[in-house]
Amino acid sequence: MAKFSKNSMVLCFWLVIVFVISCANGVRLKKFDHPTKGDGTLNFLVLGDWGRKGTFNQSHVAQKMGRIGEELNIDFVVSTGDNFYDNGLTGVYDPNFVESFTNIYTAKSLQKQWYSVLGNHDYRGNVEAQLSPYLRKIDRRWLCLRSFIVNAEIAEIFMVDTTPFVQDYFTNPKDHTYDWRGVIPPNTYTANILKDVEKALSESRARWKIVVGHHAIRSVGHHGDTQVLVDRLLPMLRAYNVDFYMNGHDHCLEHISDTESPIQFLTSGAGSKAWRGDVKGLNREDVNFFHDGQGFMSVQLTPTEAEIKYYDVFGRVLHRWNRSKLLHSAI
Ligand SMILES: *[C@@H]1O[C@H](CO)[C@@H](O)[C@H](O)[C@H]1NC(C)=O
Ligand SMILES: *[C@@H]1O[C@H](CO)[C@@H](O)[C@H](O)[C@H]1NC(C)=O
Ligand SMILES: [Zn+2]
Repeated sequence: MAKFSKNSMVLCFWLVIVFVISCANGVRLKKFDHPTKGDGTLNFLVLGDWGRKGTFNQSHVAQKMGRIGEELNIDFVVSTGDNFYDNGLTGVYDPNFVESFTNIYTAKSLQKQWYSVLGNHDYRGNVEAQLSPYLRKIDRRWLCLRSFIVNAEIAEIFMVDTTPFVQDYFTNPKDHTYDWRGVIPPNTYTANILKDVEKALSESRARWKIVVGHHAIRSVGHHGDTQVLVDRLLPMLRAYNVDFYMNGHDHCLEHISDTESPIQFLTSGAGSKAWRGDVKGLNREDVNFFHDGQGFMSVQLTPTEAEIKYYDVFGRVLHRWNRSKLLHSAI
């Protein structure tokens, strides 16, 4: 009898260890509740690939964002990554943070929460600095985590850290040094992200499901499709009825439709340097819009209606697109 209970105690001990380890691996994504205006609508701007101390038209785009942000009475701003060029931030005291963010997006309408993911250029700096809560003491708008969720009532936004999915950065870093702390081994890291995102998507009851990452799933710009995301992320987005996938990375504005589902691929990576001039596949029938210059995007949501607009450096609407959803449509 005594021997039996000793064995069961040992067994219990190991079960506890296994439980603790599996909890540590399957960390649930942090969720931020963003209360909206209370009238059932949600408006926000989406910007990517921007931090260049105002150069390459960054300041002009920022000014126009201020005007449109005011018109739409936006709730927040989403950044699709490559926040600070060329090599992220060197530390929390890097003046690039203030010179490329605080001093640029000065309009009253932009003094809202910014939700940011990391881009590949951000991984070339001190990643922990960009993730550090200390930056919020310098500018309270800043919030950047690796992967997280914004719950904005009618919409849930799933922010996904896509850089570690792209094997080329690990195997062929060229003359760049990446800060892979917390990401190695990338196979385990990305498998856990996908597990967490799938769980969160399966539990989501939001009217609109939006996934944001730095790298495009579909793009006709310089970098083109990101095959690893087509293979590993896209099937999940289709399975859980995601409405929009938003990204940066290619320095342009684009709207591409999925050929096998209602998903729309929306690129907003034109916050500063643009005009790369190497578009491929513009005639593809799934490409609704492409702009090879600076600009940004707005998203306006009601429980039944979504409106997406793209603006150029002058704040002119270049492309608009609406989708309606019946209130009681089958999920
Ligand atoms: C700034 O925008 C204008 C208007 O689109 C464009 O002509 C000019 O080339 C841009 N400058 C840079 C550096 O991209
Ligand atoms: C598009 O959606 C917006 C609301 O998001 C709505 O105000 C507008 O009337 C819609 N436009 C069309 C053509 O349906
Ligand atoms: Zn990038």
